[in-house]
Amino acid sequence: MSSSSVLEPTHLAARPGAVLFDAYGTLFDVYSVAQLAEALFPGHGQAISVLWRDKQIEYTRLVSACNHGAHYQAFSVLTRSALIYAIKKIASHAGQTGVDAEFMHKAEPRIAQLLAQYQALQAFPENLAVLQTLKAEGIPIGILSNGDLPMLHAAVESAGFTGLVDHVISVDAIRTYKTHPEAYALGEQATGLPAGAIVFVSSNAWDALGATWFGYQTLWVNRYHLPFEELGTQPHRTGTDLRAVLDFFPT
Ligand code: LAC
Repeated sequence: MSSSSVLEPTHLAARPGAVLFDAYGTLFDVYSVAQLAEALFPGHGQAISVLWRDKQIEYTRLVSACNHGAHYQAFSVLTRSALIYAIKKIASHAGQTGVDAEFMHKAEPRIAQLLAQYQALQAFPENLAVLQTLKAEGIPIGILSNGDLPMLHAAVESAGFTGLVDHVISVDAIRTYKTHPEAYALGEQATGLPAGAIVFVSSNAWDALGATWFGYQTLWVNRYHLPFEELGTQPHRTGTDLRAVLDFFPT
């Protein structure tokens, strides 16, 4: 298989003992909501889905950085807040006449529809087969995500991943979001392995970077041909889809 490239020569551990996946953006397509957003807010679907995601991540950082986490809110709550922000900014004429309160009131059922869709995000097409292959080879599989457990379990179930994932790990247990080291440490605790013996897979460059800094072997799944973060560290490997994780387990 040649779907990954080694960007930085490193001495990787022989054969990793487990694989941990990021959830949103990596296993589940956060931009798959754009179609429904377009139907509900014509002309704005794409922009809402992009700002929704950006704001969601920004909020995780905001609540993490201020007052030692005293403002922590669960990811499902931040996800709703980020969606409302995106709709206010993009669709409710904010900036011209101010946020339209009547518009926002009428938008409530559409907000509920979008949040329901977020519970059942599409998985990327190759993911199920990749998880099945890892499972068949006896490799422990986990998800280590900022998402809280109810939303992660809903996503796993709707994608048909039930029974394939051995560890569903949420940072909500410690109320601290990635990229805090304590969040990444949850993966070691769940698997009983040191980070260097685990492959951490993320499509989010910032997450692949945080995991590399923590000490995991890392795969960045660069689905959209983006540049990596310019902070002086590269992931161990880069691939264009999830199949690249199989390269860590040559037969
Ligand atoms: C996750 C998001 C942030 O942790 O991608 O699943």
